[in-house]
Parts: sequence; structure tokens; C-alpha cells
Amino acid sequence: MSGVPEAISPTSRGEQVPLPSGAAVATSAPAPSARTPRILQRMLALDDFEPQAARILPRPIFGYASGGSETNASLRANREAFDDWSFVPRVMVDVSVRSQQRTLFGRTYDAPFGFAPMGGTSLGGFDGDRVLARVAAVSNIPMILSGASLTRLEDVKAVGPTAWFQGYIPGEEGAIRRLVERVGAAGYDTLVVTADVPVAANRENNVRNGYSAPLRPTLRLAWQGITHPRWLFGTALRTLYVHGMPHSENMGSTRVPLVSRVAVRERAQRDRFSWRHLALIRSLWPGRLVVKGLLCAEDARIAAGHGVDGVIVSNHGGRQLDGAVAPLRVLPEIAAAAGSMTVMMDSGVRRGTDVLKALALGAQFVFVGRPFLFANAVAGEAGVRHAVKLLREEIDRDLALVGVDSVDGVSTALLRPRPR
Ligand code: GLV
Repeated sequence: MSGVPEAISPTSRGEQVPLPSGAAVATSAPAPSARTPRILQRMLALDDFEPQAARILPRPIFGYASGGSETNASLRANREAFDDWSFVPRVMVDVSVRSQQRTLFGRTYDAPFGFAPMGGTSLGGFDGDRVLARVAAVSNIPMILSGASLTRLEDVKAVGPTAWFQGYIPGEEGAIRRLVERVGAAGYDTLVVTADVPVAANRENNVRNGYSAPLRPTLRLAWQGITHPRWLFGTALRTLYVHGMPHSENMGSTRVPLVSRVAVRERAQRDRFSWRHLALIRSLWPGRLVVKGLLCAEDARIAAGHGVDGVIVSNHGGRQLDGAVAPLRVLPEIAAAAGSMTVMMDSGVRRGTDVLKALALGAQFVFVGRPFLFANAVAGEAGVRHAVKLLREEIDRDLALVGVDSVDGVSTALLRPRPR
């Protein structure tokens, strides 16, 4: 049990009490409740979790989760893209009743954001994949389970009715058939195909910090565990005690242990994966089909031609091609090319204002990754619920401040490019 109050209701009534003239309007940093676990009282924004997680997590794991690839150019660009837009708020609009509900693929969610897929979620905190799936379900938002996760996709769906599955799919027909069948049998209705991973990225930070998949048992790794006792006992040993050695469970036909001197993760044939494999998936998968990792409008047109239901405009959180454009910059052209597909985005979203900017520029929904992994590392399920609450409160407040009463009212009319 979290000890954190339930997330705010999707429709909030603004303050109704008239202020005496001259009274200061309260600035609205989230008021920490008396029941909030202590550490969370200092977590006032999603970005607050990362430095805290850096203290808790062993360096290889924190570095893996927080890093991008090569020079981290795309990681930085993702944030800078949001700063290039300013709001032109409307005033004296009745915004006393506000809604951030969003309907996606026929289901109405209580916020316009969900959890992006992250393979390291259960490395960052105990049972991370299940924690995120549970919090997503109670918050009525989607959670995308990563194909690189350490929890069986069946077990996550069992606790997370709002979970989608994201696959790392090889260009091999037999493997595709097996995976599609397994995902469907587990009860998923939305399959996300990752398009930006033909080869592994050049993540020098992993090499520098001693991260690999699987992890190699070295003295350096052992030292990192010993010097991070909270993670050692709360995540690593607890996981071993409760679940045994974690394995990569949802990728290829072999289960690869998390720690091994010799095992190798299957990546074969991913560089053969092409539109004809997507056509095969479309013919096999009766549910919603989403392609994640598009940055080019022409690719969105091709996806639409393949009967894809939605795209997630993404540069993989700056973790694949270093120098890849920030998704926010290409959102408008992709939205224009998307036809009837649902356009979503991820990469760099940290604030309610970021969410509104993305919606204004053509996204119908956004996904947020790292901050929720860090929130789980910092305070488990309570941390993730708190992080969801923070972002929802920001969106609610920002809707009022820009002068619209629902996310449906957010449009480019609210934005101006910021002069450089
Ligand atoms: C997995 O998707 C990763 O980016 O490490």
C-alpha cells in the first residue's frame, strides 16, 4: 500500500472560494500530504527522481537507464525541442471544470500519458514491470511492457489490464508467428512493433559503467552491489529470493539469465526486419497494431498503407541513433501524413507543459519512460503513484493557465516558436 493519496480525479474543479481583493493567489507547488512517505515530500517534479535514483542504483544500472548513445546529442535535443516553443495563453476563460481524459483505440484513459517501454524496469526496483503495470491500471493509463523486460509478458498482463506489449522482432517468419500467438494468448489487445532497432546502439556509457546484457559477474559489479545496499537488499536479493534469477523472458526463443559469464542475448535477424514482416504481423494480429520509432513522415504514410492503427513518434529516448531528430520537431509533419492512424510520441517528456506542447503539435497521446523507472527505484509503488500524480497535477494546472478546459482544446494556436 502506497501511503500516497490517490491520483487526482481526471476532472478537477478549480478553487471556488472567492479571494479577498489583494489576496495573493497561492502558488501551486504540489502540497505534500502528511501521509506521503518522507522522501516523496521532496519529489516535486519528475526530474527530482533521477538524482535520487543515482544515489540508490549501482552505477552500471543507473548509467544504462539514464544514458543515451554516443555523445547523448539526441538525449539533449529531446529536451531542447520543448524549450523552443512558448505558450500564448488565453485569459478569462471559465476553466473551473477541467478534463485530461483521452480516448485511444476506443478506450478512455484518465490522462493523456502512459508508461513508455523500458527493459530495465525490474532492474531499477523490485518487480518494476509489475509495479508499473499495477499503477497504470489503477491510474487508468496505458503501460507498455518492453520486449527486453525481465518479467514474463503473461505475468504482467495478469496484473495490468491496461498493459500493451512492445516487441523486439526479428525478420524471421517463424519467430514472428510464435511471438504474435503468445502475445495474443496472454490477452494483450495492443502490439507495439519497435522499428528503430535494426542493430544495437553504440552505448559507450554502458561500456564505461560496466553494464552489459547479460551482466557479467565481475568484482566491479559485486563492489557496485555492496556499495549500494538499499538496491542490493531491496531489489537484487529480494528478486532472487522471491523469483529466482531473472531472465530476459520475452525476446526470442531462449531465456537468457540476467547475470551470466557466457550467455549471449539473441539479436539475430533484427536487421532483416522490414515492411514485409510488418505486413505479415498485420495479417496475423487481429488487435491494435502500433509502430514505435518512426521519425519520417514518409514512413508514417507507409505504415498507414500497411493497416497500422497508430504510430509512436520516437527516437527511443535518445538511445539509438545519436543525432536522430527530436520527435517533437517532426510531429506536425507526421501528424499530417498519418491519415486515420493515431499519432503518439515519446522522448523527453518531463512536464505538464511538455505534454501540452506535444498535443498542440499533433500528438494525441504521449509516453514517458525514465522518470517512472527512477520513481520505482526511489520509493517503489508509492513512488510511481506519486510521479503519476505530479504529472497529472501539472497537466491540470497548465490547462487552466493556458486557458482551455480540456486536452481536446489544446491546439497550435496556443504556441509560438521561441526566437533563438
Ligand atoms: C531498450 O529498449 C533500451 O533502450 O535499452
